[in-house]
Amino acid sequence: MNAGVESGHWSEVDDYIGGLLAPHDEALVAALKASDEAGLPEIQVSPPQGKLLQLLAQAIGAKAILEFGTLGGYSTIWLARGLPADGRLVTLESDLGYAEVAQENIERAGLRDVVEVRVGPALETLPQLDAEGIGPFDLTFIDADKANTPEYFAWVLDHSRLGSLIVADNVVRDGTLADADSGDSKVRAQRQLHEMISADPRVSATTIQTVGGKGYDGFTLALVNS
Ligand code: SAH
Ligand code: DHB
Ligand code: MG
Repeated sequence: MNAGVESGHWSEVDDYIGGLLAPHDEALVAALKASDEAGLPEIQVSPPQGKLLQLLAQAIGAKAILEFGTLGGYSTIWLARGLPADGRLVTLESDLGYAEVAQENIERAGLRDVVEVRVGPALETLPQLDAEGIGPFDLTFIDADKANTPEYFAWVLDHSRLGSLIVADNVVRDGTLADADSGDSKVRAQRQLHEMISADPRVSATTIQTVGGKGYDGFTLALVNS
């Protein structure tokens, strides 16, 4: 009678939720197939999480979205589907091979004119965005190399407007977020993120723990106040 606490059950529930509320269409099926065939790691957001990203974009009426960590473009497609016809999404990916797979997936989804994939380590491509005067961004999804999440967050905060929303993935990390003595740089970075946010009057935030097909993790949602 304790099925609910087993992680296998979390995936079944994700499948149930996804099947009814976040079903895959041809473009999403094809994106995952192409990503798998190209050997990309299967670490994209789950279907219910992808749908959440789309809903958040729609709820705030986002017109400009920034994403850190494209992988095969799965989350990118969900996010871009939350944009109006004149919306734009810039997504940053360090791996050229992944970016090429993503570009094809994005084009197959009919989003070629909406999404721009920028290749290179984000800390190197951000200055170029700055130089071009791109932004402010209405919604940002931070999902790249986890040790740099605090740096990305700080950059985004400086390129936001009143009402901008920032979402960071993979912050709970099997609950290690609460481990003050963790020596893992990824965990330490998520703790630093929380401490930064806590001390910054420009943002109001919360973190929601999640279970599902991707195990036990969670995301931070931060709203820019000023
Ligand atoms: N957002 C994707 C998953 C991203 S996985 C989805 O849910 O569908 C994390 C990605 O970040 C990987 O593709 C990895 O290559 C990329 N990455 C790692 N370090 C990076 C960096 N310094 N700059 C930009 N992207 C990086
Ligand atoms: C992993 C999961 C993610 O959501 C991500 O963005 C990067 C890595 C993982 O499970 O390793
Ligand atoms: Mg992630």
